[in-house]
Amino acid sequence: MGIPIHTYDAVVVGAGLAGLAAARELKKQGKNVVVLTKLHPLRSHSGAAQGGINAALAEGDSVDLHMFDTIKGSDYLADQDAVEFLCSTAPDAVRWAEQMGAVFSRTEEGKIAQRPFGGQSHPRACFAKDRTGLTLLQTIFEQANRLDVEFKDEWYVSDIIYDEENGRVKGVVAYDIKTSEPAIFNAKAVMFATGGYGRAYKINSNAHANTGDALSIVARHGLPLEDMEFVQFHPTGLAGTGILMSEAARGEGGKLLNSKGERFMEKYAPDKMELAPRDLVSRSITLEILEGRGVGPNKDAVYLDLTHLGKEKIMERLPELRDLALTFLGLDMIKEPIMIAATAHYSMGGIPVTIDGKVKKSPSETVTGFYAAGECSCVSVHGANRLGANSVLEALLFGRHVGLSMVNDLEELELHPVEESDADTAIKEIETIIKNNGMERVPEIRSELQSTMTENAGVFRTEESLKKQKEILKELHARYKNIRIDDKSKVYNTDLQEAIELGHMLDYASFIVEGALARKESRGAHYRNDYPKRDDKKFLKHTYAYMGKRGGIKLEYADVVLGRFEPQERTY
Ligand code: FUM
Repeated sequence: MGIPIHTYDAVVVGAGLAGLAAARELKKQGKNVVVLTKLHPLRSHSGAAQGGINAALAEGDSVDLHMFDTIKGSDYLADQDAVEFLCSTAPDAVRWAEQMGAVFSRTEEGKIAQRPFGGQSHPRACFAKDRTGLTLLQTIFEQANRLDVEFKDEWYVSDIIYDEENGRVKGVVAYDIKTSEPAIFNAKAVMFATGGYGRAYKINSNAHANTGDALSIVARHGLPLEDMEFVQFHPTGLAGTGILMSEAARGEGGKLLNSKGERFMEKYAPDKMELAPRDLVSRSITLEILEGRGVGPNKDAVYLDLTHLGKEKIMERLPELRDLALTFLGLDMIKEPIMIAATAHYSMGGIPVTIDGKVKKSPSETVTGFYAAGECSCVSVHGANRLGANSVLEALLFGRHVGLSMVNDLEELELHPVEESDADTAIKEIETIIKNNGMERVPEIRSELQSTMTENAGVFRTEESLKKQKEILKELHARYKNIRIDDKSKVYNTDLQEAIELGHMLDYASFIVEGALARKESRGAHYRNDYPKRDDKKFLKHTYAYMGKRGGIKLEYADVVLGRFEPQERTY
């Protein structure tokens, strides 16, 4: 039987905030669009964002302050033209979300309530209790449904159809997870909005789905990935599991304490204290633990104390957090401090794109018909370290904007014919995994990958640890070729899916390590013990990394778009 070929104006891969917002705009303008997601849209990781979405709405705040905080937070690696677009459009994005039906928490006067977040000079995070991402995701999903956007849930996109010679994408290859049957989606425009890559780490706040598939798919075609070494560790993940305890907890007044009862942020960020940016707070927590001032049975956590906020405030502002800490730690934050540690949370790096979401094939050229937005992309508004509540903003705002830019480009874009053989690589990958009868197991390789990435390419890195990790990755890649899965069937074969995902995780993990090894400085979330200072002379640059045809990763560097905000020493 032949492979079905479906044709569309646009295919959107991923149904989180960015994908949904784009698909809604495309459909609204009469485009024939389909959204492919390996989940159900409401299971997308955008729904896990708790604390807020930034916009300079309040009196005394301004777009300039939002820009400055974002650029300083990024350790000056963010592109200032993209940041200007983000911050100046943020108020409209929040108002638009409200008009779409998102119910934000309110102030006494009935305005949208805003709370302080790390590294911000003004309370700027608009919120819906501690369920901001979920509120927005449900709203935009409803609005997309209202317009009859077509969804294909539980479809796994395993390749793009890339015409390298002409530099254009003609569609994607995907298979139905329920049957393992492949299909080709031929389209004038393809958008990736597939989320981040935090699952490469053992302790992380990410959904199981965040296996960075899109990044490896792109890289395997020789297209670049940008700034992959910048992985954000959120300061407050629940001890043991890494489940997110929103920055909102500190925004509402939460204190961090070590085993001696010291409020240790006094040492590291005397001005901003617990509301310093994430890179700094995560390093401080990790250092307290490494120096023996941790708490808990393994002394691998510190306390987050919210007891002084009182029951009423906790129940009004942080009900989800209280539930999570009760469920996973058995600790009631109303009565006692809870235990937290840094957790891999967000991917600053990703698929390089222009402000209009066009995927780049080099720092100066784009791929025709190919777009990306949200966490899988690197635009780059976050540079080396993202500020809390800027990612929900980025996903919603750029998702919508890129959808509109696709609508515009579709006037010119053409449908280029595809052939069944365009699905060969994707089909061969499935067949090889099913037929392979090697000795290695997917969960074992995955857990070795995650624990060694945490150890060697985590909050603190050195030449030695990164070189060690490079060797480990080589070995894990070799072992991956020798895997065996037990389920050889075609029905809901999650063994198969996890094996494919592991291949992606191994590939992009190499990009993280190569970028980190070459970046001999400390900047934002990338901290090298052996190069503790930022080096603007050599490294005020974006990393562009390419997978070689015969393996190996080639690096080049591209200029940062600077602007009004000159790089300065970063103190808090
Ligand atoms: O802490 C949080 O609520 C996470 C928000 C974010 O990553 O922006």
